[in-house]
Parts: sequence; structure tokens; C-alpha cells
Amino acid sequence: MKKICLLSDIPDHQAITCPYDDNYSMLVYRDGDTAYAYINSCPHAGVPLEWNAHEFMSADGLLLQCGTHGAQFEPPTGHCVHGPCKGAHLHKIAIKLMDGVVYQV
Ligand code: FES
Repeated sequence: MKKICLLSDIPDHQAITCPYDDNYSMLVYRDGDTAYAYINSCPHAGVPLEWNAHEFMSADGLLLQCGTHGAQFEPPTGHCVHGPCKGAHLHKIAIKLMDGVVYQV
């Protein structure tokens, strides 16, 4: 397993950007004691989602939102519920939490 970050690095109900591979970063979203990770690439045009560094959330704070054309995604599923790629999904990355550390499995 590869260590990604500490859960405490992520503000609750927000996401941060972490390295993934030579082509992509990943976003890691925290919901209390759990987290979800996705390739940081919008299904619409393949660009990173964040508005500014580590800023992914919609104005109401409930959904991940692409900063380019505004597609919105449910944090637990990566399902796009609004915007030009409605019905598409972010690419989920398998992670595991142990002792407050987020690992890629
Ligand atoms: S690139 Fe994300 S909505 Fe268009």
C-alpha cells in the first residue's frame, strides 16, 4: 500500500489534491472518519477539477464541482448529477484508512 496523506490533512467535507502518477493527480474527499479518492480529471474535458489549489466544493459545500464548466459530482460516488457530463462518473481510486492514514491499495 502507498501512503497518500493523513486524514487530518483534509478539512471535513472538503477535498485536497495529492499526487497520483505522471499524468494525473488525485483528489481525496473527507467525510468525518471516512474518505473517497478519485482521479482529478473531469469526465467532460479531462481537466483537473479544482477552482484553486485544494478548492473543489460547490457553493453550498455539498458537491464536488468542476471549476471549468461547473459539472457537479456526489462525493461518495463520483456520480455527476449536474452539468455537461451529467450521468458520468469520476474514476474512483481504491483507498484504505488505518490509524488516521489514507493509503492507496
Ligand atoms: S471540464 Fe469539467 S465541466 Fe467541462
